[in-house]
Amino acid sequence: MNIIVGISGASGIVLAIKTIKSLIAAGYGIDLVITGAALATAKQELNLSTPKKILAELSSDNIRIHSLYDFTAAIASGSYHTEGMIIVPCSMSTLAAVAIGLSDNLLRRAADVCLKERRPLTLVPRETPLSAIHLRHMLTLTEMGAHIVAPMPAWYNLPKTLSEVEDFIVGKVLDSLKIKHQLYPVWPL
Ligand SMILES: Cc1cc2nc3c(=O)[nH]c(=O)nc-3n(C[C@H](O)[C@H](O)[C@H](O)COP(=O)(O)O)c2cc1C
Repeated sequence: MNIIVGISGASGIVLAIKTIKSLIAAGYGIDLVITGAALATAKQELNLSTPKKILAELSSDNIRIHSLYDFTAAIASGSYHTEGMIIVPCSMSTLAAVAIGLSDNLLRRAADVCLKERRPLTLVPRETPLSAIHLRHMLTLTEMGAHIVAPMPAWYNLPKTLSEVEDFIVGKVLDSLKIKHQLYPVWPL
């Protein structure tokens, strides 16, 4: 059971870290690809400036990291079977590229492969406010069967910490792939 995780350069790198940890806890192997902009964001938000530091933070042997322009990587081909892909966080740039089929790096190519193979694809787009272009791309991807799981908190579950808000969002990401978890309390509380 392998899932591809793409980390792009939007805010919310902690969501990627928590998503990967939750997937590993659920028994998945991870094919990981990180954009250059994601490294800049990771440095700003978590002081993780290199793929090596991100891997150390994840501390698992169950992660295979791919370089961003290695189009010979397994995840560039539909013949390599995966359970799908999560792009978390997803920048508006990566969102746009995936929506129009622009496969100019390995993250975008892997997402394109998921779409053409009709495999689950979940994007966690982070931007606010959203322009008509952003919204159109999200609609296009939804119409192609992808899941748009925007990182929006809920208040009805009375979160007390930012970490609880993050867990709720990661739980919703896992829900989109029908992966069981206990990241947030089920309603009614
Ligand atoms: C600290 C920081 C935070 C950023 N946050 C966002 C964001 O939330 N959403 C977004 O779309 N772009 C954000 N950006 C801009 C993207 O990183 C930029 O558009 C980049 O080209 C995305 O490239 P990628 O999609 O290849 O990762 C941010 C950049 C930095 C440095």
